[in-house]
Amino acid sequence: MKDLSVDPASQAVRGTLTETAEISWLISHQNVAPPTGVKVCVIGGGFVGLVTATGLAQAGHSVTCVEKDKQKAADLAAGKVAIFEQGLSELLQANLQRDRLTFTTDLAGSVSGQDMIVISVGTPSTDDGQADLSAFTEVIRDLARSLRSGQVVTIKSTVPVCTALFASQLLNEGRNGQGPIPVVSNPEFLREGTAVYDFFHPRRIVVGGNDPIAVEKVVQVYRAGLSRPAPIVVTSNETAEMIKYASNVYLAMRIAYINELSAVCDALDIEVADVSSAMGLDPRIGPDYLDVGPGFGGSCLPKDLNAFVAGAQRVGVNLAIAPAVREANERQLDRVAEKVRAIVGGDLKDMRIGVLGLSFKAQTQDMRDSPSMAVVLRLLAHGATVQAFDPAAMEEARRLLPQVRLCATAAEAGAGADAIVILTEWPEFQLLDWAGIGRLMRSARLVDSRNLLSPEILRRHGFEYIGMGQK
Ligand SMILES: NC(=O)c1ccc[n+]([C@@H]2O[C@H](COP(=O)([O-])OP(=O)(O)OC[C@H]3O[C@@H](n4cnc5c(N)ncnc54)[C@H](O)[C@@H]3O)[C@@H](O)[C@H]2O)c1
Repeated sequence: MKDLSVDPASQAVRGTLTETAEISWLISHQNVAPPTGVKVCVIGGGFVGLVTATGLAQAGHSVTCVEKDKQKAADLAAGKVAIFEQGLSELLQANLQRDRLTFTTDLAGSVSGQDMIVISVGTPSTDDGQADLSAFTEVIRDLARSLRSGQVVTIKSTVPVCTALFASQLLNEGRNGQGPIPVVSNPEFLREGTAVYDFFHPRRIVVGGNDPIAVEKVVQVYRAGLSRPAPIVVTSNETAEMIKYASNVYLAMRIAYINELSAVCDALDIEVADVSSAMGLDPRIGPDYLDVGPGFGGSCLPKDLNAFVAGAQRVGVNLAIAPAVREANERQLDRVAEKVRAIVGGDLKDMRIGVLGLSFKAQTQDMRDSPSMAVVLRLLAHGATVQAFDPAAMEEARRLLPQVRLCATAAEAGAGADAIVILTEWPEFQLLDWAGIGRLMRSARLVDSRNLLSPEILRRHGFEYIGMGQK
């Protein structure tokens, strides 16, 4: 019989059950919101745009999503979702069938008659760490040619402070007596992996702008989609823009802090989970974002941290904490690679390492700035051969990690390996037949960078086990 190597103290699946239940209810619930008559155009059908467009359609609005990438737009119009996000595909298909959601590549032809335009194009890092606003600026220039008075532009992309002001100037210059187009800042806080749930259960909705009628319109559009009341923060554009960066830099700091704490716990033979769970009981601290791992990553925290540092420098503020967070994160990645090197006896050259988990966190296929990938690159640089498995990210991995042998199962990633390293906290890794995997390995050794498994059970199965900040 299969042994369940689940550590009851593991925090890895915290919250997932409620969210899964809620999403199942949403999908199966036939009594959908009645049409609101509000027309929304979402520009950018990437992660945020797609979740937003689908959520707004489910809430009763009539939504057009403009996506520049022809293939992506065609796939979405056919109901095909390339991203792994619980409930998204089902809700997308249901709203396509209800004719509440359409996809197009034609921005100019889609804007007319819309009440609200939501911009959700990407704002990646430039080489010097600033937010790259080229896609955003292109959209604003296109909109300037098409918009009419009465329409509201909403910025959902994460953009530096004063971007709304800049957008407003671009949109409104040369309007020759026509009424101004208001610009509302509406940063997005959804989490990949629970994005659909988060759309209907936001912790807060931030709406910034200086035109009270436009702000109220945006508030009403989102209020229609709420499964339960959420605090709505109405503020200026600049404060809304800053709230987003301040939040993400703070989250990155918490992760970097707990990871650094785990290194101290390692050195002092203290269980970091005992420390973090007691810390989390203090309402001034709270329990979230105190799970140890290989470091923060993903499409937001690293680039937003960079943009925050660059933005502060531009206004003459020399930061100490934010750059240190970046540095601490790099050290954590090194630490994980170092643990793998140590467990195989000090030299990774010609060692075969099985990697479990490539996405930047569980419940997503997203490998943008994935810490797993950063650790894999370190292992390869030390001369290791890497064979890897991820429950959702294999397609992205084929593109991003051609040097890695990709395996169809976790067991295959372990077969013949000198060590396995767990890099993403997929709950299914807790349910693997670890005794069987141990038998397939050249040496049963495991580095658990997420403290996902029970060291006792793994050791009982004959593994040499190293976690992070564990006794
Ligand atoms: N991913 C997240 O979890 C998350 C969470 C909160 C905020 N954000 C922010 O939201 C924004 C979007 O992030 P994302 O992850 O969805 O990015 P993404 O790269 O997945 O999606 C952006 C999409 O916009 C499309 N696009 C670019 N230019 C366009 C144009 N002119 N017309 C139409 N479509 C165009 C791209 O083809 C792409 O599909 C970013 O600013 C990001 O920082 C992301």
